[in-house]
This record gives sequence, structure tokens and C-alpha cells, in this order.
Amino acid sequence: MKNIHSHRKDEHISLAEKFYTEQAQAGFESIRLMPNALPEIGINDVNLETTLAGLTMPYPFFIQAMTGGSEYTAKLNARLAKIAHATGLAMAVGSQSVALKYPELAPTFQIVREMNPDGLILANVGADASVTKAKAAVEMIQANALQLHITEAQELVMPEGDRSFNYLGHIAEIVQKLDVPVIVKSVGAGMSNQDALALKNIGVKFVDVGGFGGTNFVQIENARRHTKDFDFMTAFGLSTVESLKSIQLDDLSITATGGIRNSADIVKSLALGADNVGIAGFFLHQLLHHDDEFMIELVEQMQYQLKSLFVLLGVKSVCELSEKNIY
Ligand SMILES: Cc1cc2nc3c(=O)[nH]c(=O)nc-3n(C[C@H](O)[C@H](O)[C@H](O)COP(=O)(O)O)c2cc1C
Repeated sequence: MKNIHSHRKDEHISLAEKFYTEQAQAGFESIRLMPNALPEIGINDVNLETTLAGLTMPYPFFIQAMTGGSEYTAKLNARLAKIAHATGLAMAVGSQSVALKYPELAPTFQIVREMNPDGLILANVGADASVTKAKAAVEMIQANALQLHITEAQELVMPEGDRSFNYLGHIAEIVQKLDVPVIVKSVGAGMSNQDALALKNIGVKFVDVGGFGGTNFVQIENARRHTKDFDFMTAFGLSTVESLKSIQLDDLSITATGGIRNSADIVKSLALGADNVGIAGFFLHQLLHHDDEFMIELVEQMQYQLKSLFVLLGVKSVCELSEKNIY
């Protein structure tokens, strides 16, 4: 029999897809790219390399944490890992807490490492995990880095969710004791400069703003309740763009996640200060409707589109992009 966690993961997939919209609400439509009419560069001058959790990767976007923990999502993990391997994208797995509780589910995550032995792969657990669990999650998939997700809004709407949130002590200890880099990742509520500063002050170097405007777990959990008690809260949070604009701190590497739908959104995020961009819902939507060959072509198209956009802005590398390139 399926355990409650595996069942919930499958429900999350179907509800994320049910509520998916082509147009996100993350704020990117209010930003325009600043053309450079005389770029004086060509496609071959562009280098898309950047870092994720301090690790070098060839492209500034990656497959964000979603799947694993059930028979169905093991298959999706295998497909995503195959696509990541073929295209050079980094990939995060979904929360491994379920496999730490039920070790027989570990293969639903380990398939990602099997399909992509040399890829950049991120482990994922909640920010309230113990050091032992965080280490076990990394070991389970020989991850290159660890994501700690923060999901207060989702938990509070979820009938069986957590009701109190004391993350800072856990995060500080994990950052100190793990020998891989640790990213603290919001999921849908965004992050302000104040949040980022609180994290920086306890030794965090990598944050994922996880802004409002894409996959909406308040909406998803509210639908699972059937009572719609939390209808009023479905627009809660800072959008991805608002979060990026809010955070103005040196020595903090930022991931932009939440409502990224296309290559222009990626470039806008980078111009707003992100070092890299995570994409979940858009890839899930495409994955559920297309085969692996289509997906590989889609990612390669995005990689080429990014180079084209860089040329149109007259920039050769991710670190050259800045607020001067948007208006
Ligand atoms: C079906 C689904 C499952 C997800 N599961 C996780 C998870 O287990 N851990 C996590 O940190 N984030 C999880 N997320 C959140 C994504 O990683 C991402 O932060 C969020 O969906 C916003 O990005 P998007 O708008 O591109 O979807 C999940 C997202 C989706 C769509």
C-alpha cells in the first residue's frame, strides 16, 4: 500500500499540472530587456557559464526540485535525469524526507545519479532536518550540494502540515557540519533582504528566493483541503522579481525560482542579480505532454535562445549582466 507521503507527492504533481498557466505572475512582464543596437559581438563570443552553490555549471538554469518518493515520480525522476544528462543541466531531486523515513523508497531518488553519474545533482530536505538526515540525503544520491526548503505557508494550509517553524538553528548547524554547499530555498513565498540577511548572518552563502508567481503550494494545499479555507491566501508572498529587487547583499549567491517560463525570464533574473535560475512547473508541464527527445530539443533551444538574447543585449557572460540591461 502506498504511504501517505508518496500519495501526497503524486497529488502535488497532478494539482501543479491542473493549476499550471502559460502566463506566470512572478513580475517578469513588468520588466523589459534593454536592447543594444550596436552589440559588437556574435553568438560565439557568448559564454553562459555560471555557478550554482559555488559549483561551476555550463548554463544558468537548472531543473528544480520536484520528484521522487513514489513509483510514478521515480519514472519522472529517471526521465528528468536523462534530459539533464543529455543537455548538461544541473538537477535537484524532490524532498528526500520520505526516503529517509522509508528506506525502500531511496531508489526512486538514486535513479537520478544512476542516469547521470557525473552530473551536478542537488539533494533536498526540509530546513528543519537534523544534521544526520541532511548528510544521509546527500549520501543517498552522492549529491554535489544540498537544498534546504522552507515551506511555512504550504505547511500551515496543509491539514497534516507542521505548525511551528524554528529553522535558523538547524540551518546554521547543517551549513557548518556538511561538507557540501547548502542552499536555503523558499518555496513560493519569496525572500526579503531581511530574510537573506538573517541567513547570511548564520553563515549561509547560497539562497534561493523561491518567489510567488509560479507553482503555488498554498493553492495546491487549499485544493487538497476541499474546504477552500485558505482562498484568501493564494496570492501570499513576494514575487520572484520583488524578492530579487529586495535583496541587495554582497557575498550572497542567489538562485531565482518561481514562475520562470522562458529564456527572457532567465535573462531578466540574471540582470536582477541572480547567479542562476531554477525551473520546476514549466518543465513538469512539458514533460507530462512530450517525450524525452522533445524535452532535450526544448532545453537546447533555450540554451541557444539565451545566447541570442545575450547578443541582443551586448553582453558576453552572466557576470556582465546587470540592471543596466533592463528597464
Ligand atoms: C510537483 C512539484 C513538486 C515539488 N516538490 C518539491 C520538493 O519536494 N522540494 C522542494 O524544495 N521544492 C519542491 N517543489 C517546488 C519547486 O522546486 C519550485 O520551488 C516551485 O515549484 C516554484 O518554481 P516553478 O514556478 O518553476 O514551478 C515542487 C514543485 C512541483 C511543481
